[in-house]
This record gives sequence, structure tokens and C-alpha cells, in this order.
Amino acid sequence: MTAAKIDGKAVSASIRGQILDEVLELKKQGIQPGLAVVLVGEDPGSKVYVGSKEKACIELGYYSEVHRLPDTTSEEELLALIDKLNHQSNVHGILVQLPLPKHIHEKSVIDAIAVEKDVDGFHPINVGNLMIGDESLLPCTPAGVIELIKRAGVEISGKHAVVIGRSNIVGKPVSMLLQRENATVTMCHSKTSNMRELTQQADILVVAIGRANFVDHTFVKPGAIVIDVGMNRLDNGKLAGDVDYQDVLEVAGAVTPVPGGVGPMTITMLMQNTILAAKRAHG
Ligand code: GUN
Repeated sequence: MTAAKIDGKAVSASIRGQILDEVLELKKQGIQPGLAVVLVGEDPGSKVYVGSKEKACIELGYYSEVHRLPDTTSEEELLALIDKLNHQSNVHGILVQLPLPKHIHEKSVIDAIAVEKDVDGFHPINVGNLMIGDESLLPCTPAGVIELIKRAGVEISGKHAVVIGRSNIVGKPVSMLLQRENATVTMCHSKTSNMRELTQQADILVVAIGRANFVDHTFVKPGAIVIDVGMNRLDNGKLAGDVDYQDVLEVAGAVTPVPGGVGPMTITMLMQNTILAAKRAHG
């Protein structure tokens, strides 16, 4: 049996259709969701991501501000901009693209973003609220992973989910979200000694370890859903996930490709967070 391909592009397009309808409704009430994106420096990958976020704002009718700052920008200058955006009523979401240049402390910058405008879900208060299960803005990639699993028609409740990777951006929050959906969650990482033994028990396998083609069919339980969060640039310039897609196809029940799986969901979840922030701002 060959696994089903989970088409993140199609799911993302469908959610964007719903967002567009919602924006039109909000505009009738005089509300236009607004997103400010800040890029410091010249990282080529970051430039592409920021361009995609700007494009999504334009396509969905959001108010959009993009600040492209030189890598000589001081931390004080960046913090002053964030303070200004925190007070701007037409901006409901603020995203500072990471990584930042070495001389700027990432933590000081994330901490400075108003909690209610932190559409990345990286502020410690939003992270804490996710842990407790209180209302918060959820980090975009983990939220996209959950949405993809649900829209693939997979019941999460009662299942064994195994997450490979323990980053603050993906591994930790996605584990918390899966648990919140009533999965039993096992977290693996680069130092896990019996990894295959654990992943072979996974009904849901989420891979975010940052190593190209790390997971092959020997990791996968027959019929499992495999979500690949990896984005690795190979020496030949091609993009590869953390999962060897072709190899796991024969064993898994459903798999996300790279590109075209989790990737397209991330910006869509960002747009959804911005709508949520806009709605909350207008009570
Ligand atoms: N750099 C890579 N991924 C992300 C993300 O999700 N948010 C931000 N702000 N920067 C990133």
C-alpha cells in the first residue's frame, strides 16, 4: 500500500479562503487586520520568508508594514521600533524575523513585543499560557502541524504521538499541543538512544530534528501519519525534509512532502493569528 500524500498547499489554500471571507466581514465592522514584519540584516532565507509574509498580507487584504533594517541596526533602535509598533492601533501583530544579527539579544527583543501582538507565539507569557492551556497566541508551525493532522481526517485523541526534536519553536510546543488534543506524547531528540523502538510505536510521528532524510521506513509503524517539519538545504541546492519521503511511502498511512507540506501552513497560521489578535483588540 502506498501512503497518501498530505497536500499542505491545498489545505493552506482552503484555510486562506476562509480567512479572506473573515477579513471581508471584519472590514464591514471597520476592522482591518494589520501585521508588522521586521527584518534586520541580509539573511537570504529570511528575506524570502519576509517577502512571502508581505505577499500573504496583500493577497488577504491586511494592513501591512515591513521594516527592512540594515545589520548595523542597534538593539536600542530595534527596541524603539517595537515600542512604537506596540502602541500603533492599526498593527495587531508584530513579527521580528529570526535569526537576528549576533549583537542583538533575541530574548530581549521577543520579551519586548506586546503579548497580545506576539503572533509568533514566542513571548514567554504566550509560551507559559500554552503550557497551562490558557488562551494564548499559538506558535505558527506547531499550530499548522495540528491543523494538517486534523484535516487529514486523523483522530488525535487517545493516539500515541512521537515527536523527534525538542526546539522551542517546534518540538516542545507541538508536543504540548498534541497532549492538549489528548494524545499520549513521547519526545525524542538527538540523544535518545532507542529512537526506533519508540517511533515504531507512533500512530502520529512528527519530525523536527533538522537533519536531511533522517527518518526512513525503519522508523515508521505501518499506517502511521508522518509529519515532516524539516527544511534542509542540500549541497546541490535542493530542499530536503527530515523524512526520506519516497522511502516511508510504502509503510506510512499518510506523509507530508517537503516542499508542499508543513511549509505553506506556517504563514497561513500567522495570518490566522493576526486575525485573532485583531478581533481580541476590538473586543
Ligand atoms: N525564522 C524561522 N522561522 C521563524 C518563525 O516562525 N518566526 C520568526 N519570527 N522567525 C523565524
